[in-house]
Amino acid sequence: MPLGRSGRTEQAGLTEARLPHCGGLHTRDGSVDYFQIAGGKRLRGTVEISGSKNAALPIMAASILCEGEVVLHNVPDLADVRSMEVLLNKLGVATSREAGGTVRLKVQDEMNCHADYELVRKMRASVCVMGPLLAKRHKAQVSMPGGCNIGDRPINLHIAGLTGLGADTDLMSGDLLLKAKRLTGAELFLGGPFGSTVTGTANILMAATLAEGRTVIESAACEPEVTDLANFLKACGAQISGEGSPRITVDGVKQLKGCEYTIIPDRIEAGTFMIAGAITNGDIHLRNCRLEHLLAVVDRLRQIGVNIEREGEEVVVSSSRRLEPTTVTSQPYPGFPTDLQAQIMALLCLADGNSIITEKIYPDRFMHVAELNRLGAVLRKEGPTVIVEGVKRLIGAPVMASDLRASAALVLAGLVAKGETTVNRVYHIDRGYERIERKLRPLGADIERLNRATEDS
Ligand code: EPU
Repeated sequence: MPLGRSGRTEQAGLTEARLPHCGGLHTRDGSVDYFQIAGGKRLRGTVEISGSKNAALPIMAASILCEGEVVLHNVPDLADVRSMEVLLNKLGVATSREAGGTVRLKVQDEMNCHADYELVRKMRASVCVMGPLLAKRHKAQVSMPGGCNIGDRPINLHIAGLTGLGADTDLMSGDLLLKAKRLTGAELFLGGPFGSTVTGTANILMAATLAEGRTVIESAACEPEVTDLANFLKACGAQISGEGSPRITVDGVKQLKGCEYTIIPDRIEAGTFMIAGAITNGDIHLRNCRLEHLLAVVDRLRQIGVNIEREGEEVVVSSSRRLEPTTVTSQPYPGFPTDLQAQIMALLCLADGNSIITEKIYPDRFMHVAELNRLGAVLRKEGPTVIVEGVKRLIGAPVMASDLRASAALVLAGLVAKGETTVNRVYHIDRGYERIERKLRPLGADIERLNRATEDS
């Protein structure tokens, strides 16, 4: 069926009416955005990396804990961040956004403690309100998140941690009910079969700040986003040490005040743009990029033959024509991030030989494999591993985004594929990348956001 274009939409409209729904249409009028990409342009120029989505979301949730106003800078303007604002508004937190990525948050009403199914199904990070609600309002009712496109995503470790601090739990109509007159510090172990849990560590960390006594989180997540949350909480008056290591210690305090805080740059967006430079044989300068958060990624990219250098305040990425094959295994931080597994797969499709990619966090996070094969890649999935047979070129085709990072991989493949690639369901990408087409176009990419009235099935 021909694509029924109704014109270019300059910006992902990020009003509540256009928030993404997992597996559904993203606008009330049923229209959908898609990207049309003409591949083959070498990307050159400078790109500014936005604030980190996965740091901003729990830090925004932490405003529930604070007595005064919280002022956050470098907050990315993303669908998921807007979803968090909507959730916090319903929970009595007033939010306002200023130009340049500043968001103000202030608790005005502490009555509502319910994060309902409609909100949680739109965004799993909604579970981050659980710890703060329990610690500050002594109860939380949060819809249990279901599965999602990247696989099973249980929250048993969040629950174990919060019950370890003294919460009683119950399940009612799919909602998890948590109650505690007071939380008491404890020694907790947060390791699971796939390592620690990032948002689980965030939840326990937030709850422990107001618990009575000392909490030790053993097997805590070491991700920079958890460290950023700890730094924010410390700026509000929390007593935390050991963040960034697998053992975090929290000494509970009576109350937290508001503060002004700047969110770290998004390491996954930075990694995606590094790969955009590499895949197009380009020359890209990244601003607002913390290279120390990307060492595993830089290590793999250098192995592939990509040059990455610090130049003053910028990181410069350039690539030789020949891409070497390699092995990549996603692991908890400081290992290679699962959130860049799909993107590096797109790059390795064009390497001179066979690569092996193993997913150790979400063994089913491979929805992009079949779509990359539609573009001429030769990928074979064997359990949690994909064998990538390098090909000389990719060829443009219509493809379907299935989740946030898979969509990014398809855009990257489209940038280099011969001819035209259409990436459908780009509402997935709007959840985590701030107007990606507006950042790619000045670098020379031929990418347009278009809109059509209805989604093809
Ligand atoms: N797990 C459990 N039990 C739990 C929680 C997690 O077994 O209670 C397992 C998961 O099934 C998974 C592993 O532990 O195998 C790690 O999951 P984790 O809880 O760390 O993931 P998350 O906190 O739900 C965050 C990011 C994800 C990112 C993962 C892993 C946010 C809002 N989300 O999710 O980001 O993939 O950590 O690094 O911080 C994305 O941005 O695209 C994204 C999916």
